[in-house]
Amino acid sequence: MTSTSAVSREDVLALKTLHVSRHPLVQDKITRLREAARSPETFRILVGQVTTLLLYEALSDLSVSAHTVQTPLAECHGAVLAEQVGFVPVLRAGLGMMSAALEHVPNAQVWCLGMYRDEEQLIPMPYYDKLPEHPTADVYCVLDIMLATGGSACDAIARIKRYGKPVRLVSLITAPEGVRKVAADHPEAQVFVGVLDSHLNEKGYIVSGLGDAGDRYFNTL
Ligand code: PRP
Ligand code: URA
Repeated sequence: MTSTSAVSREDVLALKTLHVSRHPLVQDKITRLREAARSPETFRILVGQVTTLLLYEALSDLSVSAHTVQTPLAECHGAVLAEQVGFVPVLRAGLGMMSAALEHVPNAQVWCLGMYRDEEQLIPMPYYDKLPEHPTADVYCVLDIMLATGGSACDAIARIKRYGKPVRLVSLITAPEGVRKVAADHPEAQVFVGVLDSHLNEKGYIVSGLGDAGDRYFNTL
């Protein structure tokens, strides 16, 4: 495999905004997800499961407010989410993370962004954006399975950060090039990832990676 860049994995790991999961379940599931022979059915299940585990970490600082419920035994003084979460899946692959995200945050808003990567120039080509003019959520979470050159993620974050609300990015598999670009263009964005791979190949694919995430998820290889 050929590396197209000299971005050092060690330098990127030193970034304060990068959170690489150390959870053994994440490592186990991502390893199985990568396998070329994995069926689309199991691929989708694993994407959902890893999304759940990464969101557990990415949303761990959300505020809660006091909320009292009556259990069958007693009054219980508990807590419920106090912040409106806005999920921003990047089409297509980010859609694969949505059902897991909404399972855990059912009252979240979903603002889809459509873009595909021009495979020659490796730049995002936007085709769908219905984001409102003013913010409607307290915290935004961009979802995309792959963070490769970082072009797509940076475009997505740029569209949201004008709101002045906290933005975080959740990706399953990343390359040092993409993490560095996000940190350079959007140093305020917190980035939560499952694994940080070695490099991009000459076609801009993450190595070791898993190939084209959208095609594998939607069975359009
Ligand atoms: C993939 C992936 C990201 C993007 C990452 O999308 O889902 O959005 O590539 O690459 P980047 O970091 O170099 O921008 P793709 O363009 O393949 O579109 P798809 O999800 O519709 O298949
Ligand atoms: N997009 C993908 O789906 N996979 C990669 O490796 C890079 C970009």
